Parts: sequence; C-alpha cells; structure tokens
Amino acid sequence: MSQIKEHTFSNVVWHSHTLDRKQREAVNGHPALVIWFTGLSGSGKSTLAGALEQALFSRGIKTYLLDGDNLRHGLCSDLGFSETERRENIRRIGEVSKLMIDAGLVVLTAFISPHRAERQKLRELMGEDRFIEVFVDTPLAICEARDPKGLYKKARAGELLNFTGIDSAYEAPEQPDIYLDGSLPVESSIEKLLAALHNHNFLPI
Ligand code: ADX
Repeated sequence: MSQIKEHTFSNVVWHSHTLDRKQREAVNGHPALVIWFTGLSGSGKSTLAGALEQALFSRGIKTYLLDGDNLRHGLCSDLGFSETERRENIRRIGEVSKLMIDAGLVVLTAFISPHRAERQKLRELMGEDRFIEVFVDTPLAICEARDPKGLYKKARAGELLNFTGIDSAYEAPEQPDIYLDGSLPVESSIEKLLAALHNHNFLPI
C-alpha cells in the first residue's frame, strides 16, 4: 500500500484547468461552500439539511446534499464504525465536498462526524470562509426517544457496538459557526439558519 502511495505521489502532477471555481461562482451568482451539519444519530441533521437545501434551492442557489446514511450505501459501503473507519468516512466526504466546491456548489452534509480534530481538518481543507459548521445539539435522551431506525434500542441491548453516544464518543463543537437547539421545531431552525447565512454574508439570500 505504501509503495503504491509513493509511486503515485512522485509520478502524478496536478493539472490546472482553465475553467475554475471563480468562473462557476460568477455564473451561479453565489459563492461555493459547505454547510456541515454535525450531531448525534437522530439529532435531526438530515431533516434540517434537507429542509435548508429546499429553502436555498427555491432561492436560486445551486445545491447538493450529502447524507451519511445514503453515502454509506455507495461510496463508503466498505466502511464500518470503528474510529479509523469513521475518520476515513469523513476524509472521503471532505474530498467529495471539496470537488463540489470546485464545481461551484453549496454543499450540505449530514454526518455524525464525531471527532473534533477531523472537523478541524475539514475546515483547513475547504478554507475558513468556505466551511460552515452547524451543530445540531439534541440531548441524547431525545435522540434515543425518537430512535427513528431502532438503532438506539439495538445498541442498548448490546446488539450494535460502537454506537455514538452509547459506547462511542461524540465530541461536540466548542465554537460552531451556527448553533441549533435540535429539540426546537424544524421551521424555527431553518429561519435561524437562513438569517445566519444572510447576516454573516455567507450567501446572497
Ligand atoms: S460517522 O460517525 O462516520 O460520521 P455517519 O454519519 O456516516 O457516521 O453514519 C451514521 C448513521 O449510520 C447513523 O445515523 C445510523 O443510522 C447508522 N449507524 C449504524 N451503526 C452506527 C454506529 N455504530 N454508530 C453510529 N451510527 C450508526
């Protein structure tokens, strides 16, 4: 594996193409960035990211949504939930998000992404002004009561190991760009998100 890596790095040269992100952004009329939702399973990330995508799309923003459960059916179907595999999961999504930024899109992501250090790496990869971290803060008790996929029940019964919040750690953001109380109604969180994106001049909405 390391031999392949060495070979790749020494013999592959980056090709700069003429059509770049700036030109795509100019045509789209808005900057390209990633809105990264993080939080426990069942916290509401996918629901909120989906509702925000609809709101942005209806305002003419070019969007794409990457969702943890969906990506784990394809691009990341070879990965489980060990610490190492979660890191690899987030690394891949980070690289895909970066390509989509280059394509001029506003990317919305919904991944638990439990490690602070990995989320910091994403910020560095994307660039400070192109990475907006949204913390969906929903108490474990509420996520567990919702249990939309019955996974908390399985984890409590010992049938599912390494479950985030039960026997695998979640490191909450200390200074998220946008904080959401995940126990509030979706509509009020979407209003807060739209206002924050507008007020910080992230997007012309
Ligand atoms: S992450 O930790 O690598 O960011 P990701 O967001 O892709 O996780 O996937 C989380 C989803 O996978 C959860 O919403 C849940 O439906 C499912 N899942 C299955 N096993 C686990 C587990 N052990 N821990 C957390 N989520 C799990």
